[in-house]
Amino acid sequence: MTVCEAPGKVYLFGEHAVVYGEPAVPAAIERRARVTAEPREDDHVRVTAEDLSLDGFTVEYTGGTGDRPDIDAPAPLVEAAMGYVDAAVRQARSAADTPDAGFDITVESEIPLGAGLGSSAAVVVAGIDAATRALGEPLDRAELADRAYRAEFEVQDGQASRADTFCSTMGGAVRVEGDDCEPIDAPNLPFVIGFDGGAGDTGELVAGVRELREEYRFAADTVRAIGDIVRDGEELLAEAVPEADPSRELLEELGDLMDFNHGLLAALGVSARSLDAMVWAARDAGAHGAKLTGAGGGGCIVALDPDAETPTALSYTQGCEEAFRAELATEGVRVVE
Ligand code: MEV
Repeated sequence: MTVCEAPGKVYLFGEHAVVYGEPAVPAAIERRARVTAEPREDDHVRVTAEDLSLDGFTVEYTGGTGDRPDIDAPAPLVEAAMGYVDAAVRQARSAADTPDAGFDITVESEIPLGAGLGSSAAVVVAGIDAATRALGEPLDRAELADRAYRAEFEVQDGQASRADTFCSTMGGAVRVEGDDCEPIDAPNLPFVIGFDGGAGDTGELVAGVRELREEYRFAADTVRAIGDIVRDGEELLAEAVPEADPSRELLEELGDLMDFNHGLLAALGVSARSLDAMVWAARDAGAHGAKLTGAGGGGCIVALDPDAETPTALSYTQGCEEAFRAELATEGVRVVE
């Protein structure tokens, strides 16, 4: 039996603009998905997931065909989760050159699903790592990140960026520009996350920004301005002491950039009332900065606050369903057992 766990992520800066070739900086957070893989004698795959839907579920299907499993899924979220687990199994089989390998798989996750925190990437990364290790064929991190990206690409019909899977594999902060991803140094950033319980439609939101950009010059300028914020943010991170507690001054400067970034995302039409309310509640509670993270439209905000007030203030904010602290996850995917 092999158990691996991989972190979720927030965008410190740069979502949406990254679609147009600007850099972005996602950062892994200490909220993990844990996948247990136990090889079987036959070619079946049995998946148990306690936390991926309100009721939890267990599904068993025959593997080895390369087709997506035909599952009578009890809920859309379960169906989506199964798609990712199945894609991870297929990548593991192909990496280990064992097309008929069967597994008992258990998935547990601390990352809210579909909230823009990279839950699917974390499941895929931990799943491929656990399954290949269980087969005695562990992958190096570069191949793991690449296979996890390919798994997401397949499930999301070509709509995946490398950011989530790379960040979840490597941990820490990451710089993404086009297909190039590299880890960058960062201090221990004190993230606070507010979740409105919903999720925007990434495809629709990306299409909306594209239309705006085609119609209005300001939107193209806004995308470029987000790129400038990312470059300024990278400079600040590069000057900080890696993996140390950041100074107040640094948090204030990073926070200002996050505030600007949120304003520009709002100008591109991807914020929402719930996200704006949480962003303002975090700022009012003393957070150094706050912005939406991910595609927007609903889902999560991320704030920087080393003190206690922001999670409490968020939990009293109308529209906020869950608020929690999440330190930077300096370690990416890891073997637990
Ligand atoms: C979504 O998490 C991030 C976006 O930039 C889309 C993408 O990069 O694929 C909005």
